[in-house]
Amino acid sequence: MIPRDLQLLHFAGVDRATSTMLGAMTVELGKDPVDIGGIIDIGRRGQRFGTELLRTVRVIAHRHYGIPRLIAGCEASNDAGRAWLTRSGLTRTHGPDTHTLPNGRRIQATWWESTDPYATIACRSRSRRRRDHLPPVGL
Ligand SMILES: CC(C)(COP(=O)(O)OP(=O)(O)OC[C@H]1O[C@@H](n2cnc3c(N)ncnc32)[C@H](O)[C@@H]1OP(=O)(O)O)[C@@H](O)C(=O)NCCC(=O)NCCS
Repeated sequence: MIPRDLQLLHFAGVDRATSTMLGAMTVELGKDPVDIGGIIDIGRRGQRFGTELLRTVRVIAHRHYGIPRLIAGCEASNDAGRAWLTRSGLTRTHGPDTHTLPNGRRIQATWWESTDPYATIACRSRSRRRRDHLPPVGL
């Protein structure tokens, strides 16, 4: 059971052919800047599922939750992670050279961001901007 935390958004990627979950992403609203991360099932990697999932979650985060900037940390040696972030439309940004993971492991870190000047809260009652004629999120 995932602990209840309203600051943590969970997204699941489902393979429509088999109706099985193939990946998961989180957006941590409680962090400043807001953090995005994810994982694809080890047997389903390299089939562009990760790119499709991250691109979709980016749009939801920017254009539904109204988050103007997302940041992702990636271990410097993680070739797949860096390629995934790039292919999904994130760009390099500044951040600490090292990062300590929840399990205590200290890594050499690279940092990536996704920004959207048109970030908009979609819920009509909370909407800050008109949604008409907004350009699509740059993918
Ligand atoms: C990183 C991860 C999410 C990528 O998911 P995926 O579905 O395999 O990625 P995609 O198939 O969409 O591929 C995206 C890009 O990564 C590249 N890629 C995928 N696996 C790779 C690997 N092992 N080595 C190098 N590049 C790789 C693909 O070629 C593609 O780049 P391209 O379009 O320029 O060719 C997945 O490998 C994973 O879950 N890894 C473990 C957790 C992790 O590292 N999370 C990310 C932390 S930053």
